[in-house]
Amino acid sequence: MSRTPIIAGNWKMHGSLTFVKEMMSELATMLPAKINYDVAVFPVYIHLHEVINTKPEQVWCGAQNLSEYDDGAVTGEVSGKMLADLGCDMVLVGHSERRVKSRESNAEVAKKFAQALKYGLTPVLCVGESLVERQSNQTFAVVWAQIQAVLSLIGVEQLGHGVIAYEPVWAIGTGETATAEQAQEVHQFIRSQLAAKDVTMARQIRLLYGGSCKGSNAFELFSMPDVDGGLIGGASLTAEDFMAICREAKKLMNETQSS
Ligand code: PGA
Repeated sequence: MSRTPIIAGNWKMHGSLTFVKEMMSELATMLPAKINYDVAVFPVYIHLHEVINTKPEQVWCGAQNLSEYDDGAVTGEVSGKMLADLGCDMVLVGHSERRVKSRESNAEVAKKFAQALKYGLTPVLCVGESLVERQSNQTFAVVWAQIQAVLSLIGVEQLGHGVIAYEPVWAIGTGETATAEQAQEVHQFIRSQLAAKDVTMARQIRLLYGGSCKGSNAFELFSMPDVDGGLIGGASLTAEDFMAICREAKKLMNETQSS
């Protein structure tokens, strides 16, 4: 596999300044200076500054959301420009918790994706179906509609500057992980659909799996040909659990590089 896996920790609405300080110092101790995979963490807005100032160099920092606007009378929102100004590298867009709880539409998510790129942030487009949608065989249609909204707005070449995270909603925070085969099936679908538009971009874009990924199942998931790492929620909240997943990415890369 030529793509470098990303292990991304989505801290959601967890943590405190003390948590951030401890986590960053633990990761600084536990993470080797040179790693053959990428690592990112996504704290809440008000902890971004602390993460950026205390993180080990090899860890990227991202926000969990951004506004679809540049600036202006949009109380309570934070723009891509502000995140870039602060020193963020990445930003999640369209996490299912935002699609459901904040009713973000595919069109809004697409605008956010475009805003991230405009300010030099790497957007991580989260896509995935609910249990009802899976049970009624709509998985591919739902996931593709979520991606298609971004494609229609900015085109395939621009989409390629981001990352896609496939997160089946039924697997998020439930302890129920998609099997490696289920994950691969959707990842392969996404990559082949993209390849029909741009083969090079489809080969290069990184597709992460998210949904109850942990140290014990990470290797199997990451070994799938179209799975390029994970977006990790619960298991990113302790350095040991997060590092256990990072070690699986390292193991996979070591095996790939020596074969
Ligand atoms: P989980 O969350 O690992 O706790 O299932 C994943 C996510 O929502 O990004």
